[in-house]
Amino acid sequence: MNILPATLDELKRRAREAAVHAYAPYSRFPVGAAILCDGVIESAANVENVSYGLSICAERTAIFGAVARGARRIDAVVLYTPTHSISTPCGACLQVIAEFGPDALIVCCSDGAEHQYALKELLPAAFTAPQLVKR
Ligand code: THU
Repeated sequence: MNILPATLDELKRRAREAAVHAYAPYSRFPVGAAILCDGVIESAANVENVSYGLSICAERTAIFGAVARGARRIDAVVLYTPTHSISTPCGACLQVIAEFGPDALIVCCSDGAEHQYALKELLPAAFTAPQLVKR
């Protein structure tokens, strides 16, 4: 899907705004994510826990919220970190994006850089439903 420049700008603004609410006292690495799903923008931040493994990334927080409210198709994911260089989504988030947006555009932006990827570039061989029936 072709994302309009104005929509991309809004996604970037929402991702940046979301990072302000990150709860990241352990890593001190705030992340904001904004996703375009079924035409609606949803945003969220990473939420950590003192039991480190329970922490959840910004992208998955946003995706699970949107899906739990009925969304099913993700067209774009914008990831913002208040750093000089960009960060790409972790492997777990890529797999979750693949579930709802196999053709999604991934935009990684920071205070000094921006890069756009197709999800398939970052996760070319996602685990998919048809593989479940192979024995
Ligand atoms: N983090 C995200 O929110 N998204 C990613 O894709 C990578 C990592 C968060 C998790 C943790 O709170 C912090 O960044 C450091 O790993």
